[in-house]
Amino acid sequence: MSEPLRLGIAGLGTVGTGIVKIVQTHGDMLTARTGRGVTITAVSARSRGKDRGVDLSAYAWEDDPVALARRDDVDLVIEVMGGEDGPAKATTETALKAGKHVVTANKAMLALHGQALAQLAEANGVALRYEAAVAGGIPIVKALTEGLAANGIQRVMGVMNGTCNYILTVMEGTGADYADVLKDAQALGYAEADPTVDVGGIDAAHKLALLSSAAFGTQVDFDGVKIEGIERIELTDIKDAADMGYRIKLLGVARMNADGLEQRMQPCLVPAHSPLGQLEGVTNMVVVEGDFVGQTVFQGPGAGEGPTASAVMGDVVDIARGLVMPVFGQPANSLAKAKRSSTGADANYYLRCMLEDRPGALATVATILGKHGISINRMRQYDHDGNAAPVVIVTHKTNRAELDGALGEITKSDVSVVAPVAIRIETV
Ligand code: NAP
Ligand code: HSE
Repeated sequence: MSEPLRLGIAGLGTVGTGIVKIVQTHGDMLTARTGRGVTITAVSARSRGKDRGVDLSAYAWEDDPVALARRDDVDLVIEVMGGEDGPAKATTETALKAGKHVVTANKAMLALHGQALAQLAEANGVALRYEAAVAGGIPIVKALTEGLAANGIQRVMGVMNGTCNYILTVMEGTGADYADVLKDAQALGYAEADPTVDVGGIDAAHKLALLSSAAFGTQVDFDGVKIEGIERIELTDIKDAADMGYRIKLLGVARMNADGLEQRMQPCLVPAHSPLGQLEGVTNMVVVEGDFVGQTVFQGPGAGEGPTASAVMGDVVDIARGLVMPVFGQPANSLAKAKRSSTGADANYYLRCMLEDRPGALATVATILGKHGISINRMRQYDHDGNAAPVVIVTHKTNRAELDGALGEITKSDVSVVAPVAIRIETV
């Protein structure tokens, strides 16, 4: 039997301690499955004295993760510190240059530096794997780069941020306040160190950019993702959407249009009865549509200690078995630079307006929409006190530029009390 694969773990927070627990719990099983075993030789974190609830006494300690990446007794570095640059990037680059494999959960780093790091890994003949960086415990990178590799991918979409889905579904279920639910998500270890990265849609956009690369054979183009977070979603939108048969999700969509790659991360309405509509809590779901396979749906826990460590260790097992694949499913040097789609696909929209309660107000809104070629599919005016009437409209398919023009006119009109809210309805 070959020598065990020797791991150096940089970062001992939520994910790092989960990885230690898996290695300590499943040592024999990992040996059986890899035919050589997996062992931890060294670890690194900021504070050596911190009680992390796991026994680290058998492992060498490094204060500096870059020094850990240089150690002769480490074959594979697991980077679970986080941060797009700084120690995470320095540790990853050092390891790859030293001919060591790297497994990371760090979507921020890969979204910004994925192309350069993939080229570095492939030039050095080592693996750079990141299953844990996208949708936590769901093996979606593996699905795209292996199981679905024979398909032309038409669309990848999904809910990829556990914190946001947790906030939206708990708010809907309990009527609880946004800020309180966010605090719960932080306490449960789902949220990023800076939770505005979660609620602002940036974390999920990092993940979408990585999936786009693997799906469409393009270089990671994070700057090409149109991003909108969930901060402006109000309980009333969640309730009104439910009333119309929808649920609000922070949804990522990537598709190759005739004029280029469309990548969007934004709150969307999806049918309440659809698999995406039924997602609760921290659960993630990724839907992949391929030309031969049709639609496939992947669901599972998107964050937290166990699921994320599980994904990291899945990559470690592959590497221990000798599998070294191109980082984004094809050689990094062959990935095309993404051409960005300028238009994006048309969609139905949910509009929530607050209108002066007087004759002709609704007609004014309908006239403005009609002038922009936007047809109304459904409409509801809710019972109200006072002078402002809440009106919810579902439009037929329209393009976003026309809609923005109409929204601008409605906002400026004398019938609108507050600027209308518009949320895309995604066909799923
Ligand atoms: P975390 O709980 O904040 O842990 C970060 C760890 O990195 C800590 O142990 C910290 O040390 C260590 N660290 C930070 N800076 C360091 C430095 N300069 N040198 C050495 N160690 C350093 O973070 P996490 O939740 O485990 O997340 C880690 C990574 O996984 C991030 O990239 C995150 O985006 C990603 N991820 C997390 C989840 C999740 O559910 N949490 C899911 C998927 C992906 P101390 O403990 O001493 O402070
Ligand atoms: N903060 C992320 C989330 C962790 O909430 O989904 C998993 O990437």
